[in-house]
Amino acid sequence: MCGIIGYIGRRNASQIVLEGLKHLEYRGYDSVGFAGVLNSKLVIKKDVGKVDEVHARLNFLEYNLKLAIGHTRWATHGRVTRTNAHPHTDCNKRIAIVHNGIIDNYEELKKELISKGHKFRSGTDSEVVAHLIEENLVDGKSFEEACFNAFKRLEGAYAILAIKNDEYEIVAIKKGSPLVIGVADHGSFVASDIPAFLNYTKKVVYLYDYDMVFLKPEPVFYNIGNGVMLKVERPIQSVEWDAEKARKGDFEHFMLKEIMEQVDTVQRAVAQDKRILEKIVGEIRRAKGVFLVGCGSSYHACLTASYVFSKVAKEHVNVILASEFPNYEHFLTEKTLIIAVSQSGETYDVLEAIRAGKKRGSKIISIVNVMGSSLVRESDASLLMHAGPEICVLSTKTYTSQIALLNLLAYTLSDKYEEGKRRLKYLWNVIYYLTSANTRNKIRKLAEKLLDKQHIFCIGRGLQYPTAMEAALKIKEASYIHAEAFAGGELKHGTIALIEEGTPCIVFVSEENAKEILSNAIEVKSRGGYVIGISPVNSEVFDFWIKVPECGTENPIVQIIPIQILAYQLAVLRGYDPDKPRNLAKSVTVK
Ligand code: M6R
Repeated sequence: MCGIIGYIGRRNASQIVLEGLKHLEYRGYDSVGFAGVLNSKLVIKKDVGKVDEVHARLNFLEYNLKLAIGHTRWATHGRVTRTNAHPHTDCNKRIAIVHNGIIDNYEELKKELISKGHKFRSGTDSEVVAHLIEENLVDGKSFEEACFNAFKRLEGAYAILAIKNDEYEIVAIKKGSPLVIGVADHGSFVASDIPAFLNYTKKVVYLYDYDMVFLKPEPVFYNIGNGVMLKVERPIQSVEWDAEKARKGDFEHFMLKEIMEQVDTVQRAVAQDKRILEKIVGEIRRAKGVFLVGCGSSYHACLTASYVFSKVAKEHVNVILASEFPNYEHFLTEKTLIIAVSQSGETYDVLEAIRAGKKRGSKIISIVNVMGSSLVRESDASLLMHAGPEICVLSTKTYTSQIALLNLLAYTLSDKYEEGKRRLKYLWNVIYYLTSANTRNKIRKLAEKLLDKQHIFCIGRGLQYPTAMEAALKIKEASYIHAEAFAGGELKHGTIALIEEGTPCIVFVSEENAKEILSNAIEVKSRGGYVIGISPVNSEVFDFWIKVPECGTENPIVQIIPIQILAYQLAVLRGYDPDKPRNLAKSVTVK
């Protein structure tokens, strides 16, 4: 959560940091701030609101600077106020820092610093970093040494950028929170994520925990994990992502753009090296106990996979929410295989789950979109989704990519790789039809009907149950309408009490379970419910029908698409920004 960016070099740092902040806004948008150096003085501008709003009020471009850092906040410690917005400074306003993460021992550090006379302004954990650096600027110690001594005392997760009024340098450190360096001929970038500087360079350096970097402007790398400053080499790598993919183009929102991209992204997800898939399949066969872990939509993809693995490959897998994984850790051995699924590869709970596995010698395979992410680097093997940057806070294209990849794994596991691939290739036509203007217009009519509803229920059986869960999550996140999912058979065990005249219920139907789920739909209808069918064929029980061709084990990929569109349209019609829903952030790097 929170996005940070810094630039130092010959170009206008104010402009670059402002652009970077816009690209990082998906990581948090409670407040935004900026700091640079002008004539040996810090220039600080910060306030509550989104980047464009704050820039319109404060003009981040007032000065042409050669060095600047910026921050977009998702509040954890301290309310959403101007004072709590980053950057934070020391007592004398000579040092400015931006921070992503949580400093676990900030209370203890703050107490100590206050007793030494430091004056705190904000209610954040982050402010201690600026004062701690200031405290260490004693006995002729350099800014770099002071940062090193300060960083050594921090506990928790952090990516921090620090600048000083009279230094032409950005000092960066990373532990537990993402941070990547960008290298260009005119200067260096440092940011939470690559899209922040993708317009300027595709040359990146991925950092390891405890890497401390001095950008002046060329980056010089140290690692301080052992309590000393050890000079290290970090290779420059090229990213395949295209800057164009990180732009909205003609689309009003990233969410719609990313929904439309699924025609291609599902195909890209399954264009994998067969040998790597077979290697992973070998690990699955050898394992005594396979765990699939993820959060949010990635968890729903894992749940979907558990049905496909059972059905296609007759393989039992345990699916655990990453945040609940500590309850199962005692089952882990060196024979366990953990398959971690994550778009960002930076989700805290997922990283904690695999680290627990590594401690017990378990093998880690990951399915990730962001190359170079912590999860990729900490896994024994990874499959990349190749979906390109997903900017909207809601997962859409990466959710279907995850399912496509997991399906292909299940088919490969049952020695039916070619069949799996063929089935997934066939989806191109179906997704093309589902994202066409015709289908979108039809779904818009449905959105107009549901606009003022307070509750929407989603039901499915078998493979359609996790789809119902994902549908409910999409509707909640985008439109703030309360939505809840149930296994079709469960509704009558309690929740049917909530169905009254006009209550919408989205019913996911497949050939396999049509009879049973339609009978659940009739139960809803008889109590006045408004039944929306996502189904290959129409039924008289449906009040509204969205045709989705039957795709068997690939139904979860295609059946969610109309609901992604519905969620998008509900958000827009209700006047919300679907790319940045309230209280959310794209990558959840805190517990
Ligand atoms: O980056 P990850 O896939 O690990 O993220 C997991 C969840 O935070 C994510 O899926 C979240 O639930 C999205 N907001 C869903 O749209």
